[in-house]
Amino acid sequence: AVKRLTVPEIAGRKGTTPLVCLTAYSAPMARLLDAYVDVLLVGDSLGMVLYGADSTLAVTLETMIAHGRAVARASRRACVVVDLPFASYQESPQQAFRNAARVLAEAGAAAVKLEGGEEMAETVAFLVRRGVPVMGHVGLTPQAVNTLGGFRARGRDASEAEKVLADARAVAEAGAFSLVIEGTLEKVAQEVTQAVSIPTIGIGAAAECDGQILVTEDLLGLSGARVPRFVKRYADLAPLVEEAVERYAGDVRSRAFPGPDQLYRKRELRSATRPW
Ligand code: KIV
Ligand code: NA
Repeated sequence: AVKRLTVPEIAGRKGTTPLVCLTAYSAPMARLLDAYVDVLLVGDSLGMVLYGADSTLAVTLETMIAHGRAVARASRRACVVVDLPFASYQESPQQAFRNAARVLAEAGAAAVKLEGGEEMAETVAFLVRRGVPVMGHVGLTPQAVNTLGGFRARGRDASEAEKVLADARAVAEAGAFSLVIEGTLEKVAQEVTQAVSIPTIGIGAAAECDGQILVTEDLLGLSGARVPRFVKRYADLAPLVEEAVERYAGDVRSRAFPGPDQLYRKRELRSATRPW
């Protein structure tokens, strides 16, 4: 039996071998990725990547639980972390606990991730003290798109850089077991990684982070033509899908599909002609 990576094992990877992390939203994708990654993140980016929204704000807790359950069921080795969606935790530590507990109990995730820094530290501590492991997320925090005024990189001037550093310190001191740092100047991500004692997981951050994460559809070429600068395309699967579907369409129209191999027919009377 394969042993699943635990939250303390992930936390123990500070300054050791880099944590390999990817998003997964579905059972088939989780099954494909599980052997190769340390963390499967069920990110609320699914609102944009799967459901076609232009922000993550409308994603619900029920949707995160449904996708989280699919990923937890279909994986054996990876540590499964599920994003708390917008408006499911910002109101109070009590609201955050109630909803995070549902994610652990109903999805079978090992931990939740939530966005925010100093202002979320009290909530992070409240959850961790009550048995809910928390992954933090600072820098470019997509749920704050309206207050940040877009998806622009953070830490571009000295005061923004100081704020990202203070946010990271606050979340780490509150007891988070790891920290996503997204969309910051490289130097800021390097400083944050040195400043905190928990593993940092970079996305548009720095190679010195204790791990890296990407949206799986982005690295596979399945999320459309426009991807952020920080994405590296490891495959271009969209043309493969198009080519397969084009052939299927041609076969249906020419009645080449279904063929004899795909049809149920009454067994031919062969057994009667064979004495054995
Ligand atoms: O929602 C998401 O996919 C994320 C990762 C990109 C870190 O939060
Ligand atoms: Na997210």
